[in-house]
Amino acid sequence: MSDEPSEPYGEHRQQNVYAAGMLANDPPEHPVQYEKLKHRAIEAMSDEAAAYVAGGAGSEDTIDENRRAFADWRIVPRVLRDVSERDLRVSPFGREFELPVLLAPLGVLSIVHEAGELAVARAAADCDIPMVLSSASSYTMEEVADELGDTPKWFQLYWSADQKIASSFVDRAEDAGYDGIVVTLDTPLLGWRERDIEQGYLPFLDGEGVANYFSDPAFRERLNASPEENEGSAVMEFIDVFGDPSLTWEDLANLREETDLPLVVKGVLHPDDAERAVECGADGVVVSNHGGRQVDGAVGALTALPSIVEAVGDTPVLFDSGVRGGADAVKAIALGADSVLLGRPYAYGLALDGEAGVRSVLENFRADLDLTLALTGHTSFEDLDRSILLDRRPPGSGGP
Ligand code: FNR
Repeated sequence: MSDEPSEPYGEHRQQNVYAAGMLANDPPEHPVQYEKLKHRAIEAMSDEAAAYVAGGAGSEDTIDENRRAFADWRIVPRVLRDVSERDLRVSPFGREFELPVLLAPLGVLSIVHEAGELAVARAAADCDIPMVLSSASSYTMEEVADELGDTPKWFQLYWSADQKIASSFVDRAEDAGYDGIVVTLDTPLLGWRERDIEQGYLPFLDGEGVANYFSDPAFRERLNASPEENEGSAVMEFIDVFGDPSLTWEDLANLREETDLPLVVKGVLHPDDAERAVECGADGVVVSNHGGRQVDGAVGALTALPSIVEAVGDTPVLFDSGVRGGADAVKAIALGADSVLLGRPYAYGLALDGEAGVRSVLENFRADLDLTLALTGHTSFEDLDRSILLDRRPPGSGGP
């Protein structure tokens, strides 16, 4: 890794914002507090899009539990340790990331803003934050890769029921220069999402989020008429092949054979599953409950993290579901995550103001992360461990 310290993202952001506010009467255009950002974004979106992004499975109890789990751990800052220069870089897969943050794969972003994943990719490239692109993106993986340029990029695979489509996606991701594959294991079927059900709304049926499929030779081979000729029947074909609830661990071992790229499994909550994934050749694990969108009542993702870190030893562990600010990332990393994924916050930035909205969210998150690290008395994420946290979990509530 570079010996140079990172840019002082925290001080720079504060100086810019305060100077603009005080000297030019020009305070930030976009909300900084998460709840305000969410509220404003929801007002800016259609009812259907707002429900799709903000909603979760069933009673949405897991969305709340993801946040509550962070309160179980309290940071105990240390003082007088010279934190004037920090190095925020991490390199969990042998490739350096500027920050221990990636953008989580969020599908169908065109329902939020017409520039969708292209706008997100431009903001990510600007901030040097790696992006994990969803299989269900509104623009093709090749188009998004062009926007990302040299910024690290990963492709999230929804494992199609048609193995030829899954293989073709992996081949295309390799050709387009993606650095790794993140295969999502918690979505062989869509969860019971009550807000969407109530509105009878599924964006794919509107032809949103299907760009990778409609452009795919293996997908197109299945069709009697091209998507350009008959979008309706192509969409129905997509619904048919989207997921495969019959998949088992043998299939993961087979997928491993298909690519030399790092293969990371996403959506793991039990240490036995994490261990099994590594045995099948996974290079990393994303501890995640899909932001509470799949199993209502599922364990909070942070609650599941420590036992998975212990189970997989040196294998990189990434974390998402409920990360809203720098302190959340600090807690997850202190519990053994190598990096976190940011999800809904950037979708809300996108809804409010496209690329500029995403950039605001990323710049604020990065500044908060930098300052929080420094104020804990540390200068590198590699130095964080559980000793900076007070365990406030109720007795007997420690993860699976
Ligand atoms: C998602 N997520 C998701 N995950 C995935 O593997 N592929 C996908 O296409 C999507 N699509 C998607 C759309 C929307 C609107 C949301 C909110 C989420 C899950 C995502 O990657 C991540 O796990 C969660 O967003 C984490 O929860 P929070 O922190 O965003 O609440």
